[in-house]
Amino acid sequence: MIRWLLGVAVILIACAVPATANPCSIIVVGDPGGVARDDVTTDLDDMQTILSKVVATGGRIISSSKVDLPLATTEPMLLITSRDGQVTFVLANNDADWSDPLDQVVGDQLYSEKTPPAFDGIGKIYLGREISQVMGHLGAGWLERSEREQEERTDLLVELMALEPDDVVADIGSGTGYFSLRIAPNVPEGKVVAVDIQPEMNALLEENARNRGIKNVETILGEIDDARIPAETVDVVLFVDAYHEFSHPWEMKRSLMKALRPGGRVVLVEYRAEDPTVRIKPHHKMTEQQARHEFESAGFEWVTTLDDLPQQHVLIFKKPEAQAEAG
Ligand SMILES: C[S@@+](CC[C@H](N)C(=O)[O-])C[C@H]1O[C@@H](n2cnc3c(N)ncnc32)[C@H](O)[C@@H]1O
Repeated sequence: MIRWLLGVAVILIACAVPATANPCSIIVVGDPGGVARDDVTTDLDDMQTILSKVVATGGRIISSSKVDLPLATTEPMLLITSRDGQVTFVLANNDADWSDPLDQVVGDQLYSEKTPPAFDGIGKIYLGREISQVMGHLGAGWLERSEREQEERTDLLVELMALEPDDVVADIGSGTGYFSLRIAPNVPEGKVVAVDIQPEMNALLEENARNRGIKNVETILGEIDDARIPAETVDVVLFVDAYHEFSHPWEMKRSLMKALRPGGRVVLVEYRAEDPTVRIKPHHKMTEQQARHEFESAGFEWVTTLDDLPQQHVLIFKKPEAQAEAG
């Protein structure tokens, strides 16, 4: 507390001393878990550690601004003030781009909680949810089963996406391309970018596209923590029955936030975990509440949830305008 008061005093006194303007960032974050403590430090890396812990316990960014303050010192300094479920970081004397503070979160720090793996899980916990196992390419036949359209109303899902003819759609965890190839004809002036981490799945998708004569689908071999899509090139990101098995959900969402154009949408489709009649392994389902929590904490704005499909939630999010400008 004494160190913190001294830090505040340094900043206040420094503000009164005529000097050159020094770049400072002020970041306010909700801290529902009460993780942060008042502190003053010259180690700016502390910001990343504390911010990551705050985000891991459900904290959301409230504001982020850059100001020039007339400080007497040019030494980098971090002042942390924790009050009423919020933490304020003042980073003095730094030119780093903090316009999107979530870029500073260290993904690994969000996965510190572990559990003995469930029969369909990997034992890694993210925001209270155990991540599921990846569906291997040997299960490709199940994705292409003939009853799927009727069981899941996959035709209705494509309709609900309300695509524009020139949209670029990123189908993440595209598998055999069941959706990529049904979406492609709806974006004749655009294209589908199909991303999967299994080369065998991409090979099946390419074969299926050739057989149907579809030319506006491109495949990308993604990494477990990066969709490898260039920045601001995509209008819609689609995840069908895939997101729950990403081993690095934070990094994937952040890479897709960057891939989206300003105003871009996310369409997240997951089997309803609230409904016991949906006969899918437990870790391959998600509740609406959990899905919202995970995407909102990564900076996406929830728009609506559509429950028109027989077994799945369809959650729509968007990349916030301010985020898009800052990006
Ligand atoms: C259950 S399949 C769903 C396929 C397709 N979306 C469908 O509904 O037909 C999930 C797919 O996600 C892929 N996947 C898992 N982690 C991934 C990641 N980090 N990035 C991209 N794809 C991933 C898997 O390889 C698998 O092909």
